[in-house]
Amino acid sequence: MEKEKISEIKDSVNIVDVIGESVALTKAGRNFLGLCPFHGEKTPSFNVVEDKQFYHCFGCGRSGDVFKFIEDYRGVTFMDAVRIVAERSGLALEIEEGPSQQARRSHPHQGLYDIHQEAAKFYHAILMTTTMGEEARSYLHQRGLTDEVIQHFHLGLAPREGNYLYQSMQQKFSEQTMMDSGLFNLAEDNLVYDAFQDRIVFPLTNDQGQVIAFSGRIWRQNQQEQKLAKYKNSRSTAIFNKSYELYHLDKAKASIKKNHEVYLMEGFMDVIAAYRAGIENAVASMGTALTREHVSHLSKYSKRLILSYDGDRAGQAATAKALEELQDLSIEIVQIPNQMDPDEFIAKNSAEDLQNLLTKTRISNVEFLIGYLKPENIENLQAQIEFVESLAPIIAGVQSITAQNSYIYMLAELLPDFDYQQVEQAVNNSRLSSRQAGETTYSSSLAPAPLPHDLPLAKHLSRLHKAENHLLSRMISHPMILNDYRLREDFTFDTAELQVLFEILKENGEVTPQDLSQQSEAVQQAWYLVLEEDLPEEVATEELAEVEATRDKELLRKDNQLISKNVREASHKGDHDAAIQEIERLIAQKRRME
Ligand code: UTP
Ligand code: MN
Repeated sequence: MEKEKISEIKDSVNIVDVIGESVALTKAGRNFLGLCPFHGEKTPSFNVVEDKQFYHCFGCGRSGDVFKFIEDYRGVTFMDAVRIVAERSGLALEIEEGPSQQARRSHPHQGLYDIHQEAAKFYHAILMTTTMGEEARSYLHQRGLTDEVIQHFHLGLAPREGNYLYQSMQQKFSEQTMMDSGLFNLAEDNLVYDAFQDRIVFPLTNDQGQVIAFSGRIWRQNQQEQKLAKYKNSRSTAIFNKSYELYHLDKAKASIKKNHEVYLMEGFMDVIAAYRAGIENAVASMGTALTREHVSHLSKYSKRLILSYDGDRAGQAATAKALEELQDLSIEIVQIPNQMDPDEFIAKNSAEDLQNLLTKTRISNVEFLIGYLKPENIENLQAQIEFVESLAPIIAGVQSITAQNSYIYMLAELLPDFDYQQVEQAVNNSRLSSRQAGETTYSSSLAPAPLPHDLPLAKHLSRLHKAENHLLSRMISHPMILNDYRLREDFTFDTAELQVLFEILKENGEVTPQDLSQQSEAVQQAWYLVLEEDLPEEVATEELAEVEATRDKELLRKDNQLISKNVREASHKGDHDAAIQEIERLIAQKRRME
């Protein structure tokens, strides 16, 4: 296979998706983090770098691109890994596949979509036209939902018992489709029952508005007494992934686009309350905590998100947790007073009050965290110190200086034993120490500081290795620079792995995945660390000279260390002449360094 083809195949997938199928990954800053599949571990140190399309494990040091991952994870050869990726993208199948297969592929699961659409109609008709429906509807009216609202959300009612839905779908759908839909259960007596019984049903839709599942809520007094689960969702099916889908997103889309922002709430009834308050751009996850899949789904539609979770302790904890997932978005928070959720708030107050609350009382993520992390025993000095230390890096990560100042002021106001200067000092210290560790500051003004596990990839490298990574990175991206070094015959990298890569570059002008696959593990790792260099496109005037100066200094220092070691060894053995000779070399060299 030609190298262009291999590159094309590599570009056809996102390594995050491929690895995400085998390893649970969560977003951590710009990277994704999970438990390393190549060595046993309990705390995640396996990083997938989306920008650069490779992975690196801090624990065992393995790294590679998508092909390498498949090679190692499945134990196949490089070429097999290439074939697997090609197949996944449909690149290799193009010729082999006939037209009939393609037609079938264009509408996969059509039957499942159809049966859900029919079921939604069925449930809605029961709610709107039967006597039992009338009772359920009056429960909804009591909760403040008008018929217009019931129509907008296309709510329905599942009959009290039996298999009415099954009977009604039987004429139109195959047994297979019915069983795959998740709408029916097979009982021990081999009879089929409807999965939802005596529940008010909320159709769940995908972005296109196709019904893909349902959630059913109990509504009678006696159901509560029986301690039935309040809400019950369809099981996962081929068309329903509840870690990805968001309630009401299909209808919210237009308003999200117009307002450039989206509200994220905890429950279906909260989204409905927002709608009643004139806010159409609200969505909710479906009874699960916010996942990375939800976040990437949402960020396709908006980069501004207003978290409006329940005002109780659980809701506030969920908010703090969600902030970790949401680092790449700009976030504001609405806190619902008196531990209410938006639906309870609209019931106790008015639609207008909820609208004002949602649009006019937002706070930033940092303000939220100041309130959330504030210790109970604020008089206690140790508690104050810990509080300041947990917030200092978060404030240091805020881009606007004005905002930073006001947060520092807020903190100082809260703390009996700190004044403005002391808090400011803590923020400055935290900024300095994160710089030293090579962390980059956050780009989004509202995003929180990096989490402690968001480690920089090059942290454990020596200054010499870093300088050489910098040089090689420039050679890779700028052929002119590579050429300059190619002509400098005396130039070699001190880091052996980089020298190997440099040789390949000199020879071929590039390092292809195939070249790389033939190198040792250490060389492959070194390559990915070079790719991790995040340098601006343009090379600054003195940049290379400065990096080389650093490198020369480090080389000398390394040499000094070697000499010192020789001196120690020589004097240990009683070889004074040799020791003195080495000391003279050392002095001469130190002089050169000054
Ligand atoms: P809540 O318990 O906060 O419900 O659960 P809620 O929004 O206040 O609902 P009402 O007002 O009592 O009707 C929030 C979300 O968690 C999921 C549902 O998606 C619900 O909307 N949930 C809740 C379940 O999946 N199962 C349950 O038993 C309860
Ligand atoms: Mn509620």
